[in-house]
Amino acid sequence: MSTQALVDSSAPPNAGPHVLDWVRQITELTQPDAVYFCDGSEAEDRRMRELIVASGSGTWLNSEKRPNSLLVRSDVNDVARVEQRTFICCRREDEAGPTNNWHEPKGMKAKLSALFAGCMRGRTLYVVPFSMGPIGSPIAQYGIEISDSPYVVANMRIMTRMGARVFDQLGQDGFFVRCLHSVGYPLIDANGVRRPDVAWPCNPESTFITHFPEERLIMSFGSGYGGNALLGKKCFALRIASVMAREEGWMAEHMLILGVRDPKGRKTYVTAAFPSACGKTNFAMLIPPQELREQGWEVTCIGDDIAWIKPGPDGRLRAINPEAGFFGVAPGTSYESNPMAMESVRNGTIFTNVALTDDGDIWWEGMTRESPAHLIDWTGRDWTPEAKDAAGKPRLAAHPNARFTAPAGNCPIIDPDWENPAGVEVSAMIFGGRRATTMPLVFQTFDWTHGVYTAATVGSEMTAAAAGTIGQVRRDPMAMVPFCGYHMADYFAHWLGMRRSVHHLPRIFHVNWFRKGADGKFLWPGFGENMRVLKWAVGRCYGEALGRETAIGWVPEYESIDWAGLDFSEERFNEAMNIDREEWHRELVMQDELFMKLYRQLPKELVFQRELLIARL
Ligand code: GTP
Ligand code: SPV
Ligand code: MN
Repeated sequence: MSTQALVDSSAPPNAGPHVLDWVRQITELTQPDAVYFCDGSEAEDRRMRELIVASGSGTWLNSEKRPNSLLVRSDVNDVARVEQRTFICCRREDEAGPTNNWHEPKGMKAKLSALFAGCMRGRTLYVVPFSMGPIGSPIAQYGIEISDSPYVVANMRIMTRMGARVFDQLGQDGFFVRCLHSVGYPLIDANGVRRPDVAWPCNPESTFITHFPEERLIMSFGSGYGGNALLGKKCFALRIASVMAREEGWMAEHMLILGVRDPKGRKTYVTAAFPSACGKTNFAMLIPPQELREQGWEVTCIGDDIAWIKPGPDGRLRAINPEAGFFGVAPGTSYESNPMAMESVRNGTIFTNVALTDDGDIWWEGMTRESPAHLIDWTGRDWTPEAKDAAGKPRLAAHPNARFTAPAGNCPIIDPDWENPAGVEVSAMIFGGRRATTMPLVFQTFDWTHGVYTAATVGSEMTAAAAGTIGQVRRDPMAMVPFCGYHMADYFAHWLGMRRSVHHLPRIFHVNWFRKGADGKFLWPGFGENMRVLKWAVGRCYGEALGRETAIGWVPEYESIDWAGLDFSEERFNEAMNIDREEWHRELVMQDELFMKLYRQLPKELVFQRELLIARL
């Protein structure tokens, strides 16, 4: 069949001419056997899941224990985002800045065109129309992902508002972000020779995750996993959207959004930015300790990973969660650490790289106190608690970056306003990272500029969410280093500049759940207990909680934290809150590495903030 016929015979009547033009062009380039426009229906989703199972990478889970849920195993070389292969391709290198890999667009396009040429031979090309944010919301944006992976289609249906309705919104010429994805594993070569498919096709040697912000275009080749392949998420909602937000006066942030209801019945919305695998999902779905629940404290969830924030007509910041699902870290999630996440994955969920139990359910490290006696691990091999890897160390049953994809609507404490097209008003923003030393449990910054400085200098120990050196502290301003689509210094300037369009700026806090004592153990119990810190922060927003001024910001005294039901001594609190001058001197030297890199474009206000901090210390 000709390209034209292949596309036109499968296109729905409401797909606009500009959509069809692009699909034809990509079909011509990638040479698929078939083209399929997704409608977002349940029947279609069922077919996608059947295809994943038929491919050999997916297994239906026990339908009584996990209805309509799949376990999928990826290739062992395709398990996380690959930052070294992620590129921002804008015309000028200094638009991308030193924290991004830059490539000149023409050359990258040429390289990618060669890779994409014929890359879908023997496969089906799926056209996935989606909305980031509630369809019709003034903060929402639309995209179309073309992909050759049924796994991507099934995940996009959970993570976004996916389906034919988006074509209605786009009409004849409506704007959409072009998202092109291939696993990079054609089944027929240029000479027409066929090869068999593999369970999880991918192409790690030729993986490229590329962004063309000027064209609002994403091209991703070679990986089928998470943020590399679900292009609505990091590629669109953060890297491309951050560029759009800067031009249009809004913010695209790596932030959870939660609501706090206090005993007075007041509702306060808070966003928080922590780097990947540093506790956003846990914090977003926090269940307060019983004693605080009895007082009337309640947390509701709006989102766990991304916030789009826009000044509203009243000059206050309003936020939406552009996503419709959770792509959460599985290991460590349990009914103790995060009961609401456990409830969210009870049905309709796709689990990737977790372990399989003998009764067809899932398991991962930390899910239960005792591990099952026998499992099939994430690589498909038999596993027992005694299993060892080649180096003789205990072998993990689930990959450390194993994830669940669950519909947000599954979460029992999803906020009633989570799909409000107008978003919710943001009263506070919290930043933090994983720091064994230096950073106290919590402090409040003095004002917006000091808050931006604090957020801009956040450091965190690296996790398994991306390939790299685990444990090493890296600077991760606003938790956005892997996700900002332009120069980080310009991004800071954009943050500072929000002052001009916002009349009521959120209060800014810094937290650290990960400080360790001399015994090498976490000082702070974390998880639900984080409510005590959140309560103090909310109290500060209304001028109701006391703070003591220190060199680094306002801090709570022991008495200012509600300790009802928790045995946490003042000594231990002081240890968790300690501001050690020596540690802070080292911290400032470490922070300088990033500032030096960005120096030429760095807003002078941030340099002055640093000087002020040194003077106070
Ligand atoms: P991405 O989805 O990668 O952006 O990350 P996330 O920030 O949503 O990650 P998530 O919440 O799933 O973080 C998981 C990790 O954080 C696990 O190792 C948890 O054990 C740990 N964690 C979460 N909350 C706390 C806490 O309060 N204290 C401690 N010590 N660890 C926590
Ligand atoms: C992150 O790494 O911050 C994630 C997971 O949220 S992924 O979507 O794979 O980037
Ligand atoms: Mn994330």
